[in-house]
Amino acid sequence: MTISIKNLNFFYGNKQALFDINFESQDGDIIVLLGPSGAGKSTLIRTLNLLEVPKSGQLTIAGNQFELSANTDAKKIRKLRKDVGMVFQQYNLWPHYTVLENLIEAPMKVLGLSKAEAVERAQGLLKRLRVEDHADRFPLHLSGGQQQRVAIARALMMKPQVLLFDEPTAALDPEITAQVVSIIEELKQTGITQMIVTHEVAVARKVATKVIYMEQGKIIEIGAADCFKNPKTDAFAQYLSH
Ligand SMILES: Nc1ncnc2c1ncn2[C@@H]1O[C@H](COP(=O)(O)OP(=O)(O)OP(=O)(O)O)[C@@H](O)[C@H]1O
Ligand SMILES: [Mg+2]
Repeated sequence: MTISIKNLNFFYGNKQALFDINFESQDGDIIVLLGPSGAGKSTLIRTLNLLEVPKSGQLTIAGNQFELSANTDAKKIRKLRKDVGMVFQQYNLWPHYTVLENLIEAPMKVLGLSKAEAVERAQGLLKRLRVEDHADRFPLHLSGGQQQRVAIARALMMKPQVLLFDEPTAALDPEITAQVVSIIEELKQTGITQMIVTHEVAVARKVATKVIYMEQGKIIEIGAADCFKNPKTDAFAQYLSH
């Protein structure tokens, strides 16, 4: 079991944004998180690596355990971030670093890799994601699809057990989206657990092993990928019909 969330509640100030969230996933799962704008998808995925700290609940992820009613210890959060990577819609690459520098910075600092080790790992990943020709370029000189692949490579540098994606294909054209989808499918073979927020139902259908449908901070439907064919709730059926 790579992720387990129990009775998680999250507030922005005094406004509750997540209500009693519960779910579990196994190694190699691709959990797709769907729902209308404002449902709490980004908030939920951000709580999984404690970019947002819930008020209550239990989080177990990649062997890291947190009792969220207590104060969360910064050292434990740093350990969690080594095991749980995140890829955002806007790529979030450092613009003043080359692609290679973007990749080697954190593993050298956080994992203590030598520069030679980090460069070797980076070259392997850039090749795997088919952006090896761009190692010495700056992110803003790359296309959106190339930047997104570099962002995925950067997350993989830490050898995470879980990879979280918030709308990874939202800014990409269909061809590049298909490339990112095939990368997600390839990563599944390595046993890494992935959780993906998306508005693109076609992408979700393609990759999901598990589906979570949310509205207004609550999980409305949760199930295996076959719930795309046989939704259990009217709300999810209606969402899929749009
Ligand atoms: N930093 C914040 N401070 C206060 N409220 C916030 C903050 N971020 C989000 N919210 C509110 O929390 C709720 C959930 O937002 P969230 O961004 O998680 O939705 P979402 O499902 O990711 O939506 P979208 O599909 O538009 O990205 C919304 O009502 C939003 O307005
Ligand atoms: Mg969002």
